[in-house]
Order: sequence, then structure tokens, then C-alpha cells
Amino acid sequence: MNTQLKVAIAGLGTVGAGTYRVLQEHGELLTERCGHSLVVSAVSARDRKRDRGINLQNVPWFDDPVQMAAEAEVDVVVELIGGADGVAKEICDTAIQHGRHVVTANKAMLAHHGIPLARMAEERGVVLAYEAAVAGGIPIIKALREGLAGNHLKRVYGILNGTSNFILTEMRRSGREFEAVLEEAQKLGYAEADPSFDVDGVDTAHKLAILAAVAFGCEIDFDGVYTEGIRHVSALDIGYAEELGYRIKLLGTVRPTEDGLEQRVHPCMVPLSAPIAYVEGVDNAIVADGDFVESAMFEGRGAGAGPTASAIVADLVDIARGTRLPTFSVPARHLARILSAPMDRHWGAYYLRLMLVDRPGVIADVAAILRDEKVSMESMLQRQRSPGSTVPVVITTHETSESAMRHALERIDRLDTVVESPRMIRIETLGGRT
Ligand code: HSE
Repeated sequence: MNTQLKVAIAGLGTVGAGTYRVLQEHGELLTERCGHSLVVSAVSARDRKRDRGINLQNVPWFDDPVQMAAEAEVDVVVELIGGADGVAKEICDTAIQHGRHVVTANKAMLAHHGIPLARMAEERGVVLAYEAAVAGGIPIIKALREGLAGNHLKRVYGILNGTSNFILTEMRRSGREFEAVLEEAQKLGYAEADPSFDVDGVDTAHKLAILAAVAFGCEIDFDGVYTEGIRHVSALDIGYAEELGYRIKLLGTVRPTEDGLEQRVHPCMVPLSAPIAYVEGVDNAIVADGDFVESAMFEGRGAGAGPTASAIVADLVDIARGTRLPTFSVPARHLARILSAPMDRHWGAYYLRLMLVDRPGVIADVAAILRDEKVSMESMLQRQRSPGSTVPVVITTHETSESAMRHALERIDRLDTVVESPRMIRIETLGGRT
């Protein structure tokens, strides 16, 4: 039997047009795979006249996407407008209330409203699908929710923002500073005109909060994600990282600890023995550490029309096939409410770069502070010699608490011989190649 799954698309930017193109170009293949033809039966976007390279002539057009979600004769509404609140949220609320499935790529909306939306969808017996919201073309939601369902996960971490990864990669390859490479990323169309969500870690935090719910069966707690971006990473630190056997990556990490669920986004020193150190350019990658699977890594394109459309169409195929799963691994009403672990309680090793006046006794002052705060030094590196003027000194520490490290840094910053605020980057312990 070949019935139709009727689809409405709200938002016809690059991803919306890409989704339309996949549905047209792979129509037969998709019908074969799910036993239903996937038919775009309504669309809505801001500008009706814009040439998107797709033929929308026979597709009913709605100027108002919320009206479309309420009135179009469709089974599924695909929301591709974006934004945590406003019209995107209204579209999803309206579609669900009218008994329609929702497919969305909107990580900001899910990070802020994912749980009430999931409850509402599950109560109404419709699907809220969001594979495209996390890591674009990588089927990480499917991997965590289905492929790794037999595991207790111990930790999930990943490179979840292609723009930041591109910037860090190019800084390393070219030796240029952050601002110059950001400008290049903007010219290439990777970074948004306002790049703060990408480079300040917010986009990664949205995605991490969603992954946390799927991986650990808990309610989303976006406010509980410690978030720090890559603006303060300098070419100097990237050079020292290589010398010490690390690569700097913006990672999102979530893991249960004795103090609650640790959710953190910040630049990390990733050992060169870890496969994720080699994920470069705009690629994303996620690693799931489980009790039986051990470690599984998923890598691919995290953004762009093709990869994102691929994820959206996969959700549509699932809906057409009749796959019905809890939105976030367990039914939304059973999701646990786990407290987020305060960042102060984080336990790990640290890289510090100090700009010091090069004169006898300076390191002794720094070492005394580290001793007082019970922070144990692992190594120290001074490459330049410049008596009386400023030189970079790099210290790596053994594992210690974030609060001890912060106290030490505040005190070091107050020393007369420290001429710039110290730079601190956390060193991540990751499973490596043997
Ligand atoms: N702006 C995101 C990135 C893509 O750079 O990865 C969409 O999530």
C-alpha cells in the first residue's frame, strides 16, 4: 500500500530548500524505504518571490506559518525558522495541538522548551523529532537513543560547533589570531554575522543540554551548563598545546558525578592520542563512553543544507514508517530531575600561561601560591629569556579542584610581576589510541 505522508515546511532558507530538494530528488527511494510517499503539501516563508532553485508552483503557500501549522492538510510540520521563542515555538505548539507531528532543527528552542514540548507531543500521541538540531548530518540522537540503548553511559562529549572548530583549526594551521580567522569564517559564510552563539559556546551548550537528556534520561537543564567560548584562546596557547602533545578543541561534555550532572562547554587541551583531536575544520564529532560499548565516536558534517536536510528527512522517514519512541529516551513524564554539578567542583588538570617579568624569584612566588592552594605542578616551560622584560611561562598541573585553581589564579593575577591576567585552559583526560 502506498499512502502519503503530507509534509509542511516552515522556513525555506538553505536548509528548508535543501529538505525540499532531497524529498524531490529521492522521492522513489524514500517511497521504497518507508512504504509511503513523502509529499510536500504546504510551505511558508517570508519572501514568496525569492528564487530558491526549487519549483514550488503547485505547493500551497501560507504567508503565516502558524496558520499553516493549524490549517494545512498535513501530517507533519517541519519547523526551520529558528529562535528559542516567538514564531518557531508557536508553530510547534500549534502543530502539536492540532495532532500533527513536528520535525525541527531548532536547538535553542529545544534547550529552553524541549521538555514541555515533549510532554505535550507525547500526550497527544505525536512525534517531536529533532535529529537535525544536534550535529547536523550525524545521526547522534538515533545513535544514543537506539543504538546505545543497552548501555549505562558514563560520559558523552563532542565538538558540536563547526564554526568554532574551523576557527581553532585555522588558527593552528596559519598561526593567525582569533579575530583574523573569525573574519575569514564570516566571509566564507560559516559564522553568523553575530557570531556570539558560535564562538561564545552558546550553540554548543544548547546541543549539549539536549544530548544530556537523551543520554541520561533527565530533564533538560540549559541553565546548568557551564559555558565558556574560544575568544580568549590565542595563537600562543595553540602553539604551546602542540608542543605539550595537545590540541585545543571547544568541547561540550556531560557526565554524572557525585555532585550531580556535570555539563560544561569550554576550550579543552585534548591529548593527541585521542581520535577527537584530529576532527578538524567545520566537522563535528561526538564520543559516547558506555559500560558495554566502551567508546563509540561519530563524526561528520555538523551544519549545511545537505547534512541538515539529510537528518530532517531521516526523521520524516521514521514518522512515515510508524516509529514511535520517547522523545528523550524515556517518556517525558518519567525524565529524572538531576541537579547540575557546580563548576567549582570540577576535578581536572590545568594548563596555565602566565606573562611574567623575567627576573629571579618570580616563579617562586607563583609556586608558593600553588603550594598554598594545594595545586600540584606537573611541568613548567619557559622558552624565552629576556631579563627585566615580559616572557610567557607555561605551567601544567596535576588534577585539582576548579575552586582551588580559581583561588590560585586570582592570587597569581595580583602579583606585581604578572603583567597580564593568566590564561587557563582545562586539560581533558580522554581515552586514546593505543
Ligand atoms: N552554527 C552551527 C555551527 C551550525 O557552526 O556548527 C548549526 O548548528
